[in-house]
Amino acid sequence: MSPRSDPEFFDARYRADPDPWNFDTDWYEIRKRTLLLAMLPHPHYRAALEPGCANGHITTELARRCDHVTATDIAPRAVELTRARCREQPNVDVQNWGLGRIWHWENIFDLVLLSEVTYYLPADALTLAIEDMAAHLRPQTTVVLSHWRHTEKDHHLDGDEATRIALAALPHRSAARYVDDDVRIEVVTTVP
Ligand SMILES: C[S@@+](CC[C@H](N)C(=O)[O-])C[C@H]1O[C@@H](n2cnc3c(N)ncnc32)[C@H](O)[C@@H]1O
Repeated sequence: MSPRSDPEFFDARYRADPDPWNFDTDWYEIRKRTLLLAMLPHPHYRAALEPGCANGHITTELARRCDHVTATDIAPRAVELTRARCREQPNVDVQNWGLGRIWHWENIFDLVLLSEVTYYLPADALTLAIEDMAAHLRPQTTVVLSHWRHTEKDHHLDGDEATRIALAALPHRSAARYVDDDVRIEVVTTVP
């Protein structure tokens, strides 16, 4: 398999299996979600953006801590699955949008969660996407970058490379960091 960025690839995975990464049961996935949610510096946020929401496991948790969550995925089936999981959470809006596409929103967010999504963009596209995102965020926004640290054939970048490239494109100060053999989680605060 070669690196992938096309929505059709991801959509086909969800159509073959509604939980293609075993988010329900895999201990890595459960532990990662727990860690990154525990690392958020504030108990409550006004407006979160979550590109790459998959089937909504993190979205539904974020919705308990945010006035509003905008969750997005490039796979239409993932959008449907997240809408279904969050159907009783009216503060969740799920859209078919991809990191790297034209920015959709006013600068409303005080939390952006990029979990296991940036390495689906090539390096140059990731830099442009994060620079564009940074131009639409206010200072003091919490941004979380969480990545699997092992090589995958469908990733353009490994987790540490993706983290480095994203952080280089985002004016920030570090708020928290967690690293083990499997996952790297960086929590930063945007600066002017
Ligand atoms: C490995 S899953 C990560 C899910 C979740 N964020 C997590 O960390 O558990 C990657 C997801 O990102 C989506 N995706 C891939 N490229 C994307 C992009 N450029 N923008 C938004 N979503 C994307 C895929 O469809 C898939 O649902």
